[in-house]
Amino acid sequence: MIDFAAPRRRSMRQHSFSTLILLYLWLIATPRIAISIADLNHELHLEHEDVFGAPAELGFCTEATSRKTCPEPPTYDSIVIEKYLGIWYEIGSTATIKLQSEAGLACYQANYSLAAELLPSQGAKIALLHRGFPKLSAVSKQGVTRLSSAASSVCDNARHICRSVGPESPLRDALYGISHVVVEISPTHPQLASVLSQAIVNISSSLQNIDAGLGRLASNVTHIQIINGEVSQGLGTKQNNLESVNKLIRRAMSERSAITQLVSEVGIAREATIEVAKSLISDDSYAEVASKLLEAGQVIDRQTKAMTERLTNAELKLIAMAAASSSIMADKTEPETEWAIVEGQAVQNYSSPAKLVVSMQGFSGPYWIIGLEGSAEKGYEAALVYSCIHDQKYGEIHDTLFVLSRSTDLSRANIDRFLASAKLFGISTSCQNPFLLTLQDCESPWVE
Ligand SMILES: *[C@@H]1O[C@H](CO)[C@@H](O)[C@H](O)[C@H]1NC(C)=O
Ligand SMILES: *[C@@H]1O[C@H](CO)[C@@H](O)[C@H](O)[C@H]1NC(C)=O
Ligand SMILES: *[C@@H]1O[C@H](CO)[C@@H](O)[C@H](O)[C@H]1NC(C)=O
Ligand SMILES: *[C@@H]1O[C@H](CO)[C@@H](O)[C@H](O)[C@H]1NC(C)=O
Repeated sequence: MIDFAAPRRRSMRQHSFSTLILLYLWLIATPRIAISIADLNHELHLEHEDVFGAPAELGFCTEATSRKTCPEPPTYDSIVIEKYLGIWYEIGSTATIKLQSEAGLACYQANYSLAAELLPSQGAKIALLHRGFPKLSAVSKQGVTRLSSAASSVCDNARHICRSVGPESPLRDALYGISHVVVEISPTHPQLASVLSQAIVNISSSLQNIDAGLGRLASNVTHIQIINGEVSQGLGTKQNNLESVNKLIRRAMSERSAITQLVSEVGIAREATIEVAKSLISDDSYAEVASKLLEAGQVIDRQTKAMTERLTNAELKLIAMAAASSSIMADKTEPETEWAIVEGQAVQNYSSPAKLVVSMQGFSGPYWIIGLEGSAEKGYEAALVYSCIHDQKYGEIHDTLFVLSRSTDLSRANIDRFLASAKLFGISTSCQNPFLLTLQDCESPWVE
């Protein structure tokens, strides 16, 4: 953000008014610095306290806009792979696993064994046997998966809106463009300059409030994913869980509406800007200034349209979430009574021993061991595994994280340590892909 503002500030050093405006702009247009929305609202005499009083999931947009390429966390390449074999209990996994491939299953566990003799100067080939105990019928399981996919789409739409709001948004440039015009016309057209200043202030504060609103929306959806994880594993009563889900969906819907309102305020400020351009355009000496404003107006128009489209999409997905929730509620069928078993294979990379490639259920992806606790001699105690695939076409990443342990429980402190290190490596577990605990309370766990 500093880099972004600096060159412009230098070029306009001669105008004290412009310096003031830019300082103000920099203050209000930088959502990442520590001025509270309440202070800002107070300063601008905006009356959003009723809608924006609640704390947000701070930094959702900051994290969201950085998710463009796979992080490359260091892997535990000193691993002794033979000691990594055997039984592992899953302690938790991110929503894209837990509510998709593991949907409806509790007590997820794995048995790793050598699939072929370990040859010198070659990586190991490991046979994977996974199993989970069904807690839901096929119908409810499908509901869990649908609820999770729709939730993930809401997050995805929110992330796209973040791009219009954040420091790299074209809107920031448009605002700077308008602020230059304010400086140029203020000696001769103070009235018009004041309308433009107001438009800048309105747009900047709307953007900041949208940023905060997206954080709250994301936190509502994250919470839904967590409860869905409990529904999926038969924890608690279906009735209570789904009532909480529905309440959160309603909150998310009202957040979404509030954001839509803010986007329309950006639209109003844009119209005011266009009006100013129209009243300047007939005067030859201001033709250039007017066209600058029209250009800024076009940028604002494109961004508000993009945001509106994403908000409409998010609304449809929220409705889909409610429908999925009702389908689980209405389902009266019983789950299977046998462990569900999935087989697969993992091949180790000889030059990077903690990097494996896993194939399972027609799917293949990386399996990187990025955290390992306990000594090799004792067969390790716990592991943190990460997998990330970069979708070149959409410039997006799809990643999963899971924690394994040799026993059915692992202390919360251990889990938190793993999650904190993942975060440090740039791995996000918010909204789209929160980390969900695995229930490990089934009969007949594997023992070795
Ligand atoms: C959900 O949204 C409401 C406001 O709509 C907000 O107060 C709350 O903090 C959000 N987060 C959760 C987890 O409920
Ligand atoms: C800015 O917002 C205020 C308060 O909502 C409104 O009265 C005013 O017309 C807006 N001005 C512009 C230029 O958007
Ligand atoms: C093995 O790991 C190295 C180092 O990370 C990497 O350059 C190479 O592409 C990997 N090989 C395979 C087959 O994935
Ligand atoms: C794990 O798999 C191996 C290889 O199939 C098998 O020999 C072993 O008995 C299994 N362990 C358990 C506890 O089932």
